[in-house]
Amino acid sequence: MILEKIARALETDIQPGDEFIISYEHEANNGPWKRLAERRNAVVKYWQPTPVSAENPYSVAYKVEELLPLVSSRTRLVAITACSNILGSLVPVEEAVKALRQRAKEQGARKVEMSVDCVAYAPHRKMDVRQWDIDYCVFSVYKVYGIHNAAVYVRSAALKTSLMSIAHHFLKVDDKPYKLQPGGPGYELVYGATAIVPYLKSLMPEDEQTLYLCSGVCRPVDGQYI
Ligand SMILES: Cc1ncc(COP(=O)(O)O)c(C=O)c1O
Repeated sequence: MILEKIARALETDIQPGDEFIISYEHEANNGPWKRLAERRNAVVKYWQPTPVSAENPYSVAYKVEELLPLVSSRTRLVAITACSNILGSLVPVEEAVKALRQRAKEQGARKVEMSVDCVAYAPHRKMDVRQWDIDYCVFSVYKVYGIHNAAVYVRSAALKTSLMSIAHHFLKVDDKPYKLQPGGPGYELVYGATAIVPYLKSLMPEDEQTLYLCSGVCRPVDGQYI
C-alpha cells in the first residue's frame, strides 16, 4: 500500500518514455510501478535473477552486472528488494546503487530515483538509507514486532520535488511527509508502533549499554535510543 501511495504521488513527475527497472520479487513492489508505467506510458524493464549453482537450478541471485545493461538515458526509477522474501538472499544494495548511478550518469539520465523494499530485510539487518544513497525505503512494521502498517523513508529532495500531494486538497503540505497521507493514518496503529522499542528494551538486561534491535544496532543518545 505504501508503495502504491508513492507511485500515485510520483505520477506528475513521470514522462512518457521514462523507464523503470524493477526486480522480480513481491507483487507489492511490482504492481504499483507497473500500474504507474501504464498510466504514464513509461517502460518497465526487469532485473532478472541468474542461476548461481550448476547443481541447483533454483539457486539464483541478482547480479549487479546484469542490472547495468538495463540502464539508459531514459532510466527514471529503479525499484529493488533488499532481501528476497522467497529465497532470503540479499541484494548488495550499496554496490548496486553506486554502480547504477555511475552508469546512469554516463548515459546522461536526467533524474534517477532509487526505491528499496526492505520488508524482508528489516527484521535481520540495519537499513542505512544515507549509506545506500537511496530516495525511498519501505518496510512493514509487523515484521519487527509491530502493527500491520508500513514505515517509509523519503529523501527530503524527493519529497519536495518529485512527489505531488495525495492528501486533502486544502492542506498546505507540499514540503511535509503528510503529503503522502490521503486520509486518516490509523491513529491506534501509529500509537501502537511506539511500543516496539520499549518492548525490545524490556528483553534486555537493564544495564545493557547497547541495544541490538532486530533491524540493526540502536545506541543510547541522551537517554534516547536511535
Ligand atoms: C519483500 C516483501 N515486499 C513486500 C511485502 C508486502 O508487505 P505487506 O505484507 O506489508 O503488504 C512482503 C510481505 O511479506 C515482502 O516480503
